[in-house]
Amino acid sequence: MENKHPTSNIQHPTLNNIVWHKTHLNQEARSKLKNQKPCIVWFTGLSGSGKSTIANALEAKLYQLNHHTYLLDGDNIRHGLNRDLGFDEASRVENIRRIGEVAKLFVDSGVIVLTAFISPFVSDRAIVRSLVEEGEFIEVFIDTPIEVCQQRDPKGLYQKALSGEIKNFTGIDSPYEAPKKPEIHLKTDTITVDEGVNQIVEYLKTKGYIC
Ligand code: ADX
Repeated sequence: MENKHPTSNIQHPTLNNIVWHKTHLNQEARSKLKNQKPCIVWFTGLSGSGKSTIANALEAKLYQLNHHTYLLDGDNIRHGLNRDLGFDEASRVENIRRIGEVAKLFVDSGVIVLTAFISPFVSDRAIVRSLVEEGEFIEVFIDTPIEVCQQRDPKGLYQKALSGEIKNFTGIDSPYEAPKKPEIHLKTDTITVDEGVNQIVEYLKTKGYIC
């Protein structure tokens, strides 16, 4: 007997004897209680581009506005859920696949989930977009020139990558594929963190995610 996930057409052999269990409460009910339209605000950009900084400031701002959020951050998730993953291509794909599934659960719970991962590949970000309903994935490109990221080098990792101590470092010896049509494009060398946050908050208000 084939068994399909209700929101995807993917069939998987291990799902053969597993049946999707419907819950009494649905996303709509959970969201109504929270007075918001849940979504994934997906930050992508190079290491040191400012993803975590802006995502953190956005979360604080949304909290002030009485909204329910959760921030999934690359370095933190790699301490726990994804501690078994490295930075080769297959590991990065799996990293983003797991985050996508976790983010989807948060959206189902009615929460606005912010994610801060390099997520260097267009195809992986597209897969996450396809996991949720239209309008539930908001891609925010934190566009910081690599020279600026290298100059900041907050964790000293660019220096290690340039000296060959770290392999597969994004932007050095591993690619970063910039989004072609992100919902929000922030050029951090021309705006402040607050201006970036305000731009995202405006977007969320205008599109009716928050009030
Ligand atoms: S992703 O490419 O798989 O999306 P993720 O966002 O989870 O990456 O983790 C990136 C963080 O891991 C960076 O901010 C940096 O602190 C650290 N890091 C360690 N090694 C690497 C590497 N080879 N390439 C990029 N980031 C690395």
